[in-house]
Formats: sequence, structure tokens, C-alpha cells
Amino acid sequence: MSADRPPVIDYEGSDYQEAFWEHGDRAYEDRVEQIALQRLLPKKGNLLLELGAGAGRNTPRYQGFERIVLLDYSLTQLRQAQQRLGIGERYTYVAADAYRLPFVAGLFDAATMIRTLHHMADAPLVLRQVRQVLRSQAIFVLEYANKQNLKAILRYLLRRQDWNPFTTEPVEFVKLNFDFHPAAVRRWLQESGFRLERQLTVSHFRLSVLKKLFPLELLARLDALAQLTGNWWQVTPSVFTLSTATGDSPLAAPGAFFRCPECGHSPLDETAAAYICPACSRYWAIQDGICDFRQPA
Ligand SMILES: C[S@@+](CC[C@H](N)C(=O)[O-])C[C@H]1O[C@@H](n2cnc3c(N)ncnc32)[C@H](O)[C@@H]1O
Repeated sequence: MSADRPPVIDYEGSDYQEAFWEHGDRAYEDRVEQIALQRLLPKKGNLLLELGAGAGRNTPRYQGFERIVLLDYSLTQLRQAQQRLGIGERYTYVAADAYRLPFVAGLFDAATMIRTLHHMADAPLVLRQVRQVLRSQAIFVLEYANKQNLKAILRYLLRRQDWNPFTTEPVEFVKLNFDFHPAAVRRWLQESGFRLERQLTVSHFRLSVLKKLFPLELLARLDALAQLTGNWWQVTPSVFTLSTATGDSPLAAPGAFFRCPECGHSPLDETAAAYICPACSRYWAIQDGICDFRQPA
């Protein structure tokens, strides 16, 4: 694997949406994430990029945006998203590697990345890619898994966990599953050309016993209140951040959208079955409404 192609986790054929969300007792997590997104997203927008969209669980929450590009490495996740959301002008489905985005610079006015950074072995590289495709002053909502969470702190203090939750290096607790330190994420965002505007701590009550004892709406309301302390301290398993893209971005030429992820050329020639790069002749297939920029066909 070359340095600019870190490994990608495989969700092909995964029943993640059904097993984890629909039958996994995660109504509380889903609800508090909805609240956080509602707080951070603008009411209206033009073009939003959803990185690691999966089966489109969050996509309906971006209803203020005119057009949404769902990007995921897994074709089967995108097919599930298509079934959920339908095919039409509003949604564009793109199979691609977040480390090599197939879009022209300065294209999007917003991006989100929820429950996806934790699969990134090279998180700063992905953040730089995201910044590149955003226009200046665009917003970026990033969720990450926080290594400095209360459970990890307690386990560490009780000597039931080797790794130190207070140090800033990522911890890979399962292959290609990383928890990050808030200070590290803040630094990476800044170094990638983002200004951090707001942090919300999310899922304060992520404990089976609490979820069994208390009604969902009560826990969600308490979490909604506690989320507001997120700028001051971060000890929850999940943190949502809102950033703005700083500095200049090239203005995407009118009509320019995709670029070749292999050589960077744009515009690409479009046929009903593929995008073709006139510079390097690579051929990127369009299959059942999904543009596949992972490997040339
Ligand atoms: C845990 S799921 C989250 C899905 C969705 N964001 C949600 O919150 O329900 C992570 C998703 O990230 C995608 N993913 C992981 N690494 C990726 C990469 N390098 N490029 C694009 N997508 C990636 C996976 O295929 C998977 O669908």
C-alpha cells in the first residue's frame, strides 16, 4: 500500500445498518446524534458532501440542502442508501476512497463525516482532502470517537486498560478502529485549514443499564443539555465538531464537478456508462446510478 493510500476498512456486504442501528438497541445514540446535527447544521445550503455515508442513516437530516453527495467506499452500503432515499436529482451516489476524493477543489459548501473518522489510519490526510474540496468559509461537521472518555479514564485508573486516555496519539482498539484525543483532532483540523467553531459532547449516558432504566426521551433531553458543555471538556465517547474552512479556495469552474482521482484532471468526459479522464484515459464506471471512483474499470 503506497503512502497516499492507507488501508480502507471493508463494509462490502455488511449488515451494519440493520444489525447495529435497527436491532442493536441504539435508539438513544441515534436520537442524540440527530440533536447534535440539528444544532450544528445551517438551516439551508446548496451542496453537501456526506463522507462515509453508509446506508444513509443521517442523510434525511440534511434536508435544508438542495443537493447531497453520498460518498462511501462500499457499494453495498450505497445501494442500501439508494433503497432508503431513492434515485433522483437530489442525491448523488459516489463510491470512492475518502483519501482520494474525486471532486474538483472548492466545490462544496458543506461536508459531514459521522462515525467514519474512527476508521482512518491517517486522519490528517483525510481532513486535508476534505478541506481541498470545500470552498472558503464552507462548514464541516466532524464526529469522532473520543479516547479520553469517562469509561476509558476509569478503566485506566483501575489498571484494567493499558493505553493512556490522556495522551494524544490515536489508539487502535480493533484493527482499523481508532479512538482519538480531542486535542489531536483540534490540532489536525487547524493544520488542515479549518477554524474550530463549536464542540458538542454526545452520548453522555451510553450505558445499557441507564438505557434500560430510563425512558429514551428523558435520556435524550439530558444529553441535549449536557452536549452544551462540549466546548469546555470532552469526556464522552463521541464528540461532534463544527468547523469553518479558512483561507482561500479556488473557485470551481461552472459545471465542473468530478476530477480524476488518479491524475487529478478535470473535467472528465461523461457517457451513460462512465466518466472518462481525457488526460490519463482512465475509465470510471457508472453502475445503477452509482459513480465508482475506487478503481478504474
Ligand atoms: C460506521 S459506518 C458509518 C455510516 C454512517 N456515517 C452512519 O453514521 O450511520 C462507516 C462508513 O465509512 C465508510 N468508510 C470507511 N473508510 C472509508 C474510506 N476510506 N472512504 C470512504 N468510505 C469509508 C464505510 O464503508 C462505512 O460505510
